[in-house]
Amino acid sequence: MTIAISPFDVADDASLGEAVGIMRAASPVDDPELPTLSALRVSARFRNPQVNERRLAFLARLDGVIAGTGLLILPDEVNRDTAMIEVVVRPSSRRRGVGRALHDHLTALARAEGRVTVLGHTTESLSGDSVGSSFAETLGYHRASPAIGRLLDLEQVPVEALRARVAPHLGGYTPVVWSGEVPEADVADIAYLNGRLMVDAPTGDIEYEGEKPDPEVIRNYERTYRDKGSTLFHAAMRHDATGRLVAWTMIEQLDEPRSWGWQQITLVDPEHRGHRLGLAVKIENHLQVRESAPELRWVHAWNAAENTYMIAINEALGFRPNMATVHWQARL
Ligand SMILES: CC(C)(COP(=O)(O)OP(=O)(O)OC[C@H]1O[C@@H](n2cnc3c(N)ncnc32)[C@H](O)[C@@H]1OP(=O)(O)O)[C@@H](O)C(=O)NCCC(=O)NCCS
Repeated sequence: MTIAISPFDVADDASLGEAVGIMRAASPVDDPELPTLSALRVSARFRNPQVNERRLAFLARLDGVIAGTGLLILPDEVNRDTAMIEVVVRPSSRRRGVGRALHDHLTALARAEGRVTVLGHTTESLSGDSVGSSFAETLGYHRASPAIGRLLDLEQVPVEALRARVAPHLGGYTPVVWSGEVPEADVADIAYLNGRLMVDAPTGDIEYEGEKPDPEVIRNYERTYRDKGSTLFHAAMRHDATGRLVAWTMIEQLDEPRSWGWQQITLVDPEHRGHRLGLAVKIENHLQVRESAPELRWVHAWNAAENTYMIAINEALGFRPNMATVHWQARL
C-alpha cells in the first residue's frame, strides 16, 4: 500500500473537483445534522484566502487512487507563528493511514514555515462521537475550545413577543437593517466591531489574535461570501447620540440549500452592553429575513461552551443544540 501526497493548483478545475468531491462525500457521513454544502461553496474554501494569508491545497493518493485532501492555511500578517490545517479522507478510504500521512505532510510544511502552533477543528455528535476527534487525540492535539452547534426554526420564533420585551430598553438606539454589502458610511464601525470578536468572544485556550479593525477586511469577507454564492442579512443598532453602529449581527443564507443559513458574528460594543442590544439586533434580523427571504427556514449557530450570554440569547430565540465542534491546538 503506498500513499503519495502532492500539492495542487486551485486554479486547476480537475484537481479542485477531486478535492471538492471528497469533501462533499464526507459531509453527510461526518455531519448528518447539516446540509451537504454546494460545490461552489466548497471550492471557495480552497480558492479564496482571507486578507494576508496563504492557502496551500493537497491531494493524497492511495495506491494511485485519490483518497484524501488537505488544506494548509498560513496567516502572513498577524498569527505568523500559527498554521491551520484541514484533512478530509474519503469515507471508503479511511483507517488506512491516509489521514495521518496528510497531517504529517502539512505539519512538516508548517514547521518549515516557522510555525509553532497548529490549529484544527472537528465536529461531534451531541453524545461526543467523532472520528475526527479520535484522530486529533491520537495525533496529540489539545481540546482547546469546545463549542455547541444550535439549530433554529425561524418559523417558530416568537418575534413580536420578543420585540415587545426588548423595546423598553432601547431608548437612544435605532435599529438599521440591510442586505448585501455594508454601506460605505458604516464600514469603519463594522470593521471595529468585527475586530473585537477575538477579544470579546470566549475562545477557550486558543492562542489567536483578532483581525485589524480595517474596512478592507470587511470588503474581503464580502468578496468571499459573494464567491460562495451567499446572501448576507445584517442588522445593527445605531447609537443616536454619536451616529455610530454599536451592535451588529449577520446571517449568511447559503447558495444551496436556500432554506439554510449560518448565524455569523453578533457583537455589542462593550460600552453599550446591558441594553438588550444583542437580542434586539437578532430579532430585527429575523424580521428582515422572514420578509426578504421566506424560503430561509433553518439557521445554525456555533457558540463556545463558555459564551453564556450569547447562548442565553440564542436559547431565548429558540435555538436548540444539534451537534458539537471542537477547536484543537498542538505545538509543533
Ligand atoms: C479524521 C480523518 C481525516 C482520519 O482519516 P484516516 O485516513 O481514516 O486516518 P488514519 O487511517 O491515518 O488514522 C490515524 C489514527 O487516527 C485514529 N482514528 C482515525 N479514525 C478513527 C476512528 N474512526 N475511530 C477511532 N480512532 C480513529 C486512529 O488512532 C488511527 O490510527 P490506527 O488506524 O493505526 O488506529 C477522517 O476520518 C476524516 O476525513 N474525517 C472527517 C474530517 C475530519 O474530522 N478531519 C480531521 C480534522 S481536520
